[in-house]
Amino acid sequence: MPNYRLVTRRRTLCMGLASLTTIKAVEIAKIEQQNRQIQMLDNPTRDFKILGKKTLRERALDKGLFFGSASGEDKLSPDTAFATRFTKECNILVPEGALKWNALRPAPNKFDFSEGDWLVKFAHTHGMLFRGHTLVWHYALPKWFKEIVNPQNAEKFFTEHIATVTKHYAGQMHSWDVVNEAIEPDDGRSDGLRNKNTPWFEFLGPDYIELAFRVAAEADPKALLVYNEAGLEYDIPTHEARRSAVLKLLERLKSKGTPIHALGIQSHLAGDETHFNPKKLQKFLNDVASLGLKILITELDVKDQRLPVDPTVRDHIIAAAYEDYLSVVLDEPAVIAVLTWGLSDRYSWLSIYSPRSDGALVRPLPLDVNLKPKLAWNAIARAFDKSPKH
Ligand code: XIL
Repeated sequence: MPNYRLVTRRRTLCMGLASLTTIKAVEIAKIEQQNRQIQMLDNPTRDFKILGKKTLRERALDKGLFFGSASGEDKLSPDTAFATRFTKECNILVPEGALKWNALRPAPNKFDFSEGDWLVKFAHTHGMLFRGHTLVWHYALPKWFKEIVNPQNAEKFFTEHIATVTKHYAGQMHSWDVVNEAIEPDDGRSDGLRNKNTPWFEFLGPDYIELAFRVAAEADPKALLVYNEAGLEYDIPTHEARRSAVLKLLERLKSKGTPIHALGIQSHLAGDETHFNPKKLQKFLNDVASLGLKILITELDVKDQRLPVDPTVRDHIIAAAYEDYLSVVLDEPAVIAVLTWGLSDRYSWLSIYSPRSDGALVRPLPLDVNLKPKLAWNAIARAFDKSPKH
């Protein structure tokens, strides 16, 4: 008598193996297709020639624009070669971490402005504007936060933090990212607001955004107040949903008379992303501008995690992403500034947050690790040179 259990088990195993093989084949085909697309991104004949010897800040200024970058005292103070280059290229400095809650708030009743104060002095000594990032974010909160902040005291912590920090730098700030990354359509609300893992929404409800802008405006009436958001750049469903939610949020804020002056588009681009749609991006920028808002590109860099390892090929693809993106962006008259998230590959958050699996160094920024301009630098320079006057 056959052992039916064994036969059934064997059949299930075979069927399982067969479907596994199919899944594997589909996966391989997908990867091959992606690789072909990536190869197509590289057009070795495209050149990134530049004219003249002007720095990025000079080229930006020629068009009535600002160029800047994010950094910290831990780099600008000890690394004088980097600091010198930074002051040559940039006319805006934004603290990469110094003004986040986890840096500013060592304890519930303490503020530590030491790094921020060092940076604002450094910026002004070198003729750069200073930009604040960021007053309200669900991320980078101090360790004590979870234990101490609750629905009863959240509003007090929130308003006190915003008022104290904006007052401290009042008159010295070009602009403030008042609220960062409040949109997450995946969380399932019809207005697209992030409502998971965010104490601000959980404790204060959706009106926390408006409240933040009002408190900031009262404490520093001179700074440009910015709403800053990620994941808005490409023609993919998630970005489409985020663009639409951001527009609705901005419309709501404007219709309530909220003191908001600009949208910050983070612009962490991906070198292997093939869904760049100039028309859709243009339309979005135009819609934002028609609300009477300015636009800043606040955290530009190009992830190269999945690009071919050859630096020549990689740099070509990265430069093309920079130039294609900025050419569209700078055509919009409401744009006032372009900031990269770091200036040199010597210091990029992506080496930690988006490293390459082959261990090769990431190359997402305008200068290489030796502070030498790469094609990405040329691409930014070319975009400024081609830009209409702002
Ligand atoms: C990043 C910094 O670069 C890292 O050094 C830090 O540890 C985490 O935050 N969007 C933002 C920035 O608004 O604040 C983030 O900066 C990058 C993504």
